[in-house]
Amino acid sequence: MSTFEIGERDFLLDGRPHRVVSGALHYFRVHPDLWADRIRSARLLGLNTIETYVAWNFHAPRRGEFDLTGPRDLGRFLDLVAAEGMHAIVRPGPYICAEWDNGGLPAWLLADPSIGVRRHEPGFMAAIGEYLDAVLPVVAARQVDRGGPVVAVQVENEYGAYGDDKGYLQALVDLTRAGGITVPLFTCDQADDAMLERGGLPGLLRTATFGSRAAERLAILRRHQPTGPLMCMEFWNGWFDSWGLPHHVAPAEANAQDLDDLLAAGASVNLYMVHGGTNLGLTNGANHKGTYLPITTSYDYDAPIAEHGAATAKYHAMRAVLARHVPVPDELPDARPPAPVREVALTHRAPLAALLDVVAGVPRAWDHVPTADEAGHWNGFVVYRTRVRADDRVLVVGEVRDRAVVLLDGEPVGVLSRTAHEHVLPLPARAGELTVLVEDQGRVNYGPRIGEPKGLVGPVRTAVRELTAWTTSALLVDPLPAAATDRLAPVPADEPVAGPALLAGAFDAEPGVDHFWSTDGWGKGLVWVNGTLLGRYWSAMPTRTLYVPGPLVRERNEVVVLELGGAVDAVVRCVAEPVLGPVDV
Ligand code: GLA
Repeated sequence: MSTFEIGERDFLLDGRPHRVVSGALHYFRVHPDLWADRIRSARLLGLNTIETYVAWNFHAPRRGEFDLTGPRDLGRFLDLVAAEGMHAIVRPGPYICAEWDNGGLPAWLLADPSIGVRRHEPGFMAAIGEYLDAVLPVVAARQVDRGGPVVAVQVENEYGAYGDDKGYLQALVDLTRAGGITVPLFTCDQADDAMLERGGLPGLLRTATFGSRAAERLAILRRHQPTGPLMCMEFWNGWFDSWGLPHHVAPAEANAQDLDDLLAAGASVNLYMVHGGTNLGLTNGANHKGTYLPITTSYDYDAPIAEHGAATAKYHAMRAVLARHVPVPDELPDARPPAPVREVALTHRAPLAALLDVVAGVPRAWDHVPTADEAGHWNGFVVYRTRVRADDRVLVVGEVRDRAVVLLDGEPVGVLSRTAHEHVLPLPARAGELTVLVEDQGRVNYGPRIGEPKGLVGPVRTAVRELTAWTTSALLVDPLPAAATDRLAPVPADEPVAGPALLAGAFDAEPGVDHFWSTDGWGKGLVWVNGTLLGRYWSAMPTRTLYVPGPLVRERNEVVVLELGGAVDAVVRCVAEPVLGPVDV
């Protein structure tokens, strides 16, 4: 058992000054069989602490449900941190930002317009109470004063960038304390006077988020935290990627120098991220600062530990810096051998339109065009259907959130993209059944658009009238119903793919070995390996490979692909190394 406190100048571990040298590692972005490996590599870098957010919506698919098993077993993750001899910092939000769908807030909660977002509103607070009741026992039982690894817990996240409701922050503190958290609580904000003022509370340690110019930023923080340790709660040693933009690289030498400056100033640090991982499935968020930009599947973040666990050049540069300030173990993480290079023929396929009876839910009829949220769909794809006439000629949509593939009698007639600010699509001059397959590409995770509805935002008009008679159903992708692949027919894999189509193939492999699927030649879609939805791929750049974590790979494997556009052939090419895409210099 230990004590961890905030002293006059320092953190105090068992009464003695202690520097927190931490790295962010989100259990929800890493396959659970790889948690131990990534934690160990973080320790070998010289870190003494692992920090993780908790993503509320990852545990709570519906109100009243809370899953703490398998990939959601936060207790096991914290136990693995302890087993490595490290401390843990937990940031349960409830808002986490993190390039995560809706910043972690459940869409089912914010679909109710009476709910106040990130403020002291009774409906929001009641739901947070339920969430904290479910998650805090896991954390409380693992606090350092009970023999566990948890030394500190964060309240909210960069709240000063969003609001100024101190009553909300205080209510979160009260709920957290009532939930049995006895270790120090803290807030984090960008290194900005106004934000640090709005985002903090008297009596709670303020920390700052920044990735460079340490002396200047620590001086700003010191104005708001006159005593106690100075901590950079997010030292941005890399950055996330968005579809359509180049891959972000933060030079290792500059990161190492900035880290040296921070440590030389005596500050504590949390590297954001020490290991980024992957936005598996449909979990990525998005930004919207005038244009909607969804986050990529890869969350490599140009972090010291790469998405597949390799120690990068940045790892070695930062380790050398850390060794000047803290004890660093001699050992290094195991080298990662190149991944197997192989071609997997997808031997069976069918048009998606011919499978909707099995891959879409039961259609619900409407007398207006509902949003996805109104129809009770919280992520992925919604199939909207209506009938059009020969004189309709054009489809005009209020707003598409976020990308619609439009089909007339099962034949693709075009795409409407929110990122491209598109609202209008010409239609062939014939009557038929119109299917609008709308993809939620990830809910905005930062700023005032958190919680906005997805799907089609009406009205939807044509050249001559408003379209009001619709049916909606969810595309069932996670999991994909087994009956879908049973219906695929053999087609030679060298034939081009005209989407939207579902394709499947099989391959033999050495179990447990990582693969990288090169998405070159493919359009846009989803990939499943042995039934697990890996995530989205897209030709829109930057990411050119999709990471297949080794624990998903068996001796005999099934690959399923949903291709929304087209592909040169139906061959999945596995390559030796990740390709994260073009970099602007
Ligand atoms: C902020 C947030 C994090 C993350 C980073 C950018 O610091 O607090 O959750 O979104 O920005 O990666």
